[in-house]
Amino acid sequence: MKVAVFSTKPYDQDYFERYTENEDLSFTYFDSSLNRDTANLASGFGVVCVFVNDTVDKETIDLLAQHGVGLIALRCAGYNNVDLEAIKEKKIKLVRVPAYSPEAVAEHAVALILTLNRKTHKAYNRVREGNFSLNKLLGFNLHGKTVGVIGTGKIGATFCGIIKGFGCKIMAFDLYPSEELKKQGVQYGSLEEVFKQSDIISLHCPLNPDTKHIINKSSLALMKDGIMIINTSRGALINTSDIINGLADKKVGFLGIDVYEQEENLFFKDLSEMIIEDDLILRLISYPNVLITSHQAYFTREAMEEITQTTINNIKEYCSGDSLTNEVL
Ligand code: NAI
Repeated sequence: MKVAVFSTKPYDQDYFERYTENEDLSFTYFDSSLNRDTANLASGFGVVCVFVNDTVDKETIDLLAQHGVGLIALRCAGYNNVDLEAIKEKKIKLVRVPAYSPEAVAEHAVALILTLNRKTHKAYNRVREGNFSLNKLLGFNLHGKTVGVIGTGKIGATFCGIIKGFGCKIMAFDLYPSEELKKQGVQYGSLEEVFKQSDIISLHCPLNPDTKHIINKSSLALMKDGIMIINTSRGALINTSDIINGLADKKVGFLGIDVYEQEENLFFKDLSEMIIEDDLILRLISYPNVLITSHQAYFTREAMEEITQTTINNIKEYCSGDSLTNEVL
């Protein structure tokens, strides 16, 4: 079976090559992302493999169907970038990697909290320049603070476990509260209660019509002054203009984001020699209390191994006509 892998980076190819040496699968790697302009590259391939910022909309799916693609293999958990109605209509199968390393993402969320709070990124640069002053490096104890967790699935639950170790109180919101987490001392409340009571809010719910812009002007108004907001989930959970206003009027004291609403034109690319035309990200970068990483929360050796192996298994199941363990829908 011929597989077209879109949005390939050197590390993706490296991992696929490690695990496909003895497989009856032929992988072709494309740097470009999949969208309606690049879908014709899939001509002659039975399977396409895509990542978080590929645009699998109706037009793209129509073209893939015309080219005879029978399977779209997401090498990620979220599928908010796929038009599910069009997939059903064209009878294309869709598989994903439902869980690869909740620890990787949860640990990165904690890294954002610690860096923003204790300013180790600034201290690192200062000391290298012979500046041993502590001015403006003052942080706060995490111990005793209330951390709000929105979405307590695999990643949110792992995050709760880590953050509990700091002696924080955890206040959570999920459509389906976890009895297990309750036993561990996590207190569930309404979304409004989480917004009102938290010192730090970490987002771990999927992006869908209910959660889009869950952080907006109105929800920010409910929060404590100086709130720290962490988003390692999906960019559009936050209304970017509203959070910029929140930073400007000091409602938001810290913002740590691994995902960004308009990230598809920026993240995973080296644009260091280019003029960046996205004014909102430039504004965010200019704030000293904003820390942005470019969708790297998942990026650990363990997660890459799991993503690659599960994706290959997903494709093998399809090729052999087996039921698809990780089918979406
Ligand atoms: P999961 O499916 O295990 O958990 C999601 C939780 O969110 C569930 O408990 C669900 O009930 C809850 N939820 C759904 N709608 C909600 C709503 N309206 N309000 C509150 N909670 C709601 O998913 P998992 O594996 O924990 O992943 C969470 C998200 O993390 C993914 O959807 C994805 O967007 C993001 N992610 C980010 C990565 C990164 O590298 N930055 C890597 C992997 C996932």
